[in-house]
Amino acid sequence: MIKKYVYGNPVPTNAVVNDVEASEEAVQYLSEIEMNDKLIFNYVMEDDDIVYGLGEANRGINKRGAVYRGFCSDEPNQTEEKDALYGAHNFIVVSGVVSVGFFFDCGAEVKFDIGFTSSNMLNIEPSCRDLNVYVIEGRNAYDIIKQFRELIGQSYIAPMWAFGYQQSRWSYMNEDEIREVVKKHREKGIPLDAVYMDIDYMDGYKDFTVSEERFPDFPAFVQEMRGQGIRLVPIIDAGVKIEDGYDVYEEGKQYQLFCKNSDGTDFVAGVWPGKTHFPDFLNTNTRMWFGSKYKSLIDSGIEGFWNDMNEPAMFYTEKGIEEAKEYLNGFDFDSGDPGKYFELSWKMSHMSNRREDYESFYHNMDGVVVRHDQVHNLYGANMTRAAGETFMNAMPDKRILLFSRASYIGSHRYGGIWTGDNQSWWSHLLLNIKMMPSLNMCGYLYAGADLGGFGCNCTRDLLLRWLAFGIFTPLMRNHSAQGTRRQEAYAFGDTTDFANIISIRYSLIPYLYSEYMKACLNNDMMFKPLAFEYPSDSFAKTVEDQLLVGESIMIAPVYEQNAVGRYVYLPEDMLLVLFRSASQRRYQVMKKGMHFIPAAVNEVPMFIRKDKLVPLCRNTQCTDEIDTSMFEIIAYADDAIEYRMYEDDGISRNYTSPDNYTSFAIRDMDGVLGAVADKTIVKLSLF
Ligand code: GLC
Repeated sequence: MIKKYVYGNPVPTNAVVNDVEASEEAVQYLSEIEMNDKLIFNYVMEDDDIVYGLGEANRGINKRGAVYRGFCSDEPNQTEEKDALYGAHNFIVVSGVVSVGFFFDCGAEVKFDIGFTSSNMLNIEPSCRDLNVYVIEGRNAYDIIKQFRELIGQSYIAPMWAFGYQQSRWSYMNEDEIREVVKKHREKGIPLDAVYMDIDYMDGYKDFTVSEERFPDFPAFVQEMRGQGIRLVPIIDAGVKIEDGYDVYEEGKQYQLFCKNSDGTDFVAGVWPGKTHFPDFLNTNTRMWFGSKYKSLIDSGIEGFWNDMNEPAMFYTEKGIEEAKEYLNGFDFDSGDPGKYFELSWKMSHMSNRREDYESFYHNMDGVVVRHDQVHNLYGANMTRAAGETFMNAMPDKRILLFSRASYIGSHRYGGIWTGDNQSWWSHLLLNIKMMPSLNMCGYLYAGADLGGFGCNCTRDLLLRWLAFGIFTPLMRNHSAQGTRRQEAYAFGDTTDFANIISIRYSLIPYLYSEYMKACLNNDMMFKPLAFEYPSDSFAKTVEDQLLVGESIMIAPVYEQNAVGRYVYLPEDMLLVLFRSASQRRYQVMKKGMHFIPAAVNEVPMFIRKDKLVPLCRNTQCTDEIDTSMFEIIAYADDAIEYRMYEDDGISRNYTSPDNYTSFAIRDMDGVLGAVADKTIVKLSLF
C-alpha cells in the first residue's frame, strides 16, 4: 500500500513510473515540524527497529546510529564519518513490529539523522520545501522494498558479456598497452572479457574524441580486440572542454545546451580537460543531443560506456580562484596565529565541489529555470538517462553496457552504477559487501565497486580476498588510479591463485546471470540480507557480513588481513563448498549455528542453502566461449527439488519468451535421487 504526499510544487525527478494519487490527508507515520523555515519529518523508532536502505551510503546494512546526506558527492576518502557518497538514494525502510518505508523524492539535499542525535529518533530534513513523500506499508521490509521497486520501474538490464571479468586502469595509454594487458591475461589463463579506456584515450580529454596518435585506427583496434573475446569500454565525462572548433563545445554553445550563470552566460568549471561547460542534462534537447554523440563510438564497434564526473565534480571555478587570490593577497603570513594558518590550509584544500558554486548556476528544465542546488542529485542521473534513452531508442534490439558514478533513483532504469573512488583498504572491501543489498533495494542491480580499491597501493592478499567477493557481484571490475601500484591479476607474482579465483566466476555465470535477470524482471533483489529469508531468526537480523546471492547461495567473504578463515552463522543447515578453483572443490554439510570456517587466501567459501541447487558450467577464458549445453550440478537436498534457470542470448532485449527458462531438477528415480534437465548433466554432486 503506497501513499503519496505532495509538499509545495515539486520539480519532476523521473524517479517513479507508477502514478499514485496524491493523498489529501496528513502524512501518516511521520510527524512534521517546521524549524528555521525547513520542514522536518520525525519518526520514533522502537529499540529493536532496523533501518534499511539509502542505497549507495556509508556504514552498514542497518543504517541506525548515524547521519547520512542524500547529496551526490565526489568523495574518494570514504572514512567512517563521511555522510554523503556518489549516489543519492533517499529510500529507507524501518523494520520492526511495525514496518514502513519512506521515499523522499526531490533533487535537493536530504539529511537523514537515524538515531544519531537521539537514539530512537529518526529525523529527515529535506533542504527544500517542494517534494513528494511516499509512505509504503507492507507485511515486512522485504515486501515494502518489492512494492517500492515496482513503483520506480524495472532496473536496467546489462548484456551478459558484462558478467565477465573486466580490467581497468587510469589509464592504459595506447593500443599497445591494452594489447599487453590482454596478452598477459590470456597467457596466464586469467579469464577476461573487457578492458576499460580511461580519460587518456581521448584527444585532450574531449568527450567523444579518440586520440589518433594513441589509437591510429580505432575501429580496426576494436575489432582486433573483439577477435580475442575482449570488449573495450571507454569513459565519458560530464564536462565538455571549452575549445574553439571542437564540435561538441561549438554545438552546445550555439544551441544553448549548457548550464548557465544567472546572467545567461555558460557556466564554467575546471575538470580534467581544464575549463569546461556542463551539458544541461535536465533539459530534454540536451539529453537527446548528448545521447546522440555516443553513436560515433558505437559506430567504431564500442558496446559499453562508463559515465563519470557527473555529480558534477568540479575541481575549481573561476569565482573560486578569484576568491582564493583575494584571500591570499589579504593574508597576513607573519601573524603567527595558528588559527589563521589552519584556515588558510582548509581554504586551499577546499577549492573543489564548493556549495556556493553549486548554488551559482542554473538549469532550463524544458522552460522552467531551476538553480542547480535544488536539483543537484538529478544531474548525473540525467546523464545516464541521456545515454540510456538513446540506446533504447536507437538500438532497441541490442543491450549496451552503461554505468555511472553519480546517481539518483530513476537512473536505475537506464544504467547501473559503480560505487566511485574507493581505496585499497580492507574496510572498503567490507563496505562493498554491506552496500550491495542496499543498492538492490534502490533498484541498482548492475553494480559493483572498484575491486582491489581505486586509490592507495593494493596488496596481493587484499586483491585476492576482494576478488573472492567480486566473483559474485554483477559488475566485476578491477580498477585503480594512476600513481598507485599496478593492480592487474598478474601484477603480484605467481598468477595461479588469481586465475583460479576468477575461473570460479566463469563457472558461476549462468547461475549469477539467471538470478540477476530474475531480480530485474521481477523487481526483486539479487543480494539480500539474511533477515529477508529467515525473518523469524532473531540472530540472522544482526548479521551484516554475510549475504544471500539469489535463491540458492549464501556467501560469507573474508575481509580481514591475515585471517585464516572466519566465523559464519548458518541460519539453517547448509552445504559448504570450499573452492580453490572452478574445478577444485571440497564439500561439507554443516549444521545450523555458528562455525569457524577455515578459508585460506586462495580459497572461496560458498554455501548452498537447504533444498537448493547450483548449476555450474565449464569455466572459460571469456563469456563468448561459455557453453550452456552442459552443466555440473551441486545440490543439497534429500528430496525432489527444482531450480528454474533464466537464460537468453545475453544481448537482445527479448526477455519475456517462455523459452528463456530451463529447469534443473532433482527427482526420485526408482528410489534413488538423480538429476533431470533439458541440458546435459555431466556430473551431479548431491548431498
Ligand atoms: C575519477 C573516476 C575514476 C577515473 C578517474 C580518471 O576519479 O572515479 O574511476 O579513473 O576519474 O578518469
